[in-house]
Amino acid sequence: MTKSFIQISDSHIDDNKLVLGVDSQANLGSIVSMISDQNYDVLLISGDLAHNGTLESYQKLQKILNPIETEIYVLPGNHDDFSNLSQVFNQSSLCNFIIGCWEIITLDSVQSGKVSGRLSDEQLHSLSQQISSSSAKYIALCLHHPPVSMQSDWDDEMSLENPDDLFAVIDQFDTIKAVMWGHAHQCCEFNRNGVKLFSCPSTALQFNGQSGIGYNHYTLNEDGEIYCKTRWL
Ligand SMILES: [Fe+2]
Repeated sequence: MTKSFIQISDSHIDDNKLVLGVDSQANLGSIVSMISDQNYDVLLISGDLAHNGTLESYQKLQKILNPIETEIYVLPGNHDDFSNLSQVFNQSSLCNFIIGCWEIITLDSVQSGKVSGRLSDEQLHSLSQQISSSSAKYIALCLHHPPVSMQSDWDDEMSLENPDDLFAVIDQFDTIKAVMWGHAHQCCEFNRNGVKLFSCPSTALQFNGQSGIGYNHYTLNEDGEIYCKTRWL
């Protein structure tokens, strides 16, 4: 049976309903209703779950996600407070997960007090070890910050500061088939030396003027192919 997972990103839930001019709670609720009808194995949320990182915002988020019956994995974005997030989601550290013959490895690219992201030498070393010791045939990586230029109005200075260090690791392993992220609030797909790169839209609002909210649904094949369908509302 085909395996798949859904990525949502940048829900920006806050104590107030209005965030960046939109009702981020209602928007996430609409996305949750939409994905509740889908067949998939895991829901992954790639950062900026909350807008200001308050405990109450994660409690609100958890209520909105209540209809989701699959396992939920989260990684932090620059707007998150990982300690508050951990309390509510019962996830005290980053978690990788296996779907079929794939392993999805999550990374924390957040730097304290900064919008842009970075992966430390220790994190990259640990990533190499995780990949080397993985029993999965194929691997996808997920982080909050874009590791490539978005080739749009997005200010790439706010993305990952050291993408070359990440790609130096990726280039050592032909098991890595994809990298996905959020943060830029826009949807696009790139290809780098056969590795597919996916940017996930926000469930709150898009920064590139695109109307609508959406999510990415990935299909994982047993031959190492990964396909992404972006669904819009
Ligand atoms: Fe972000």
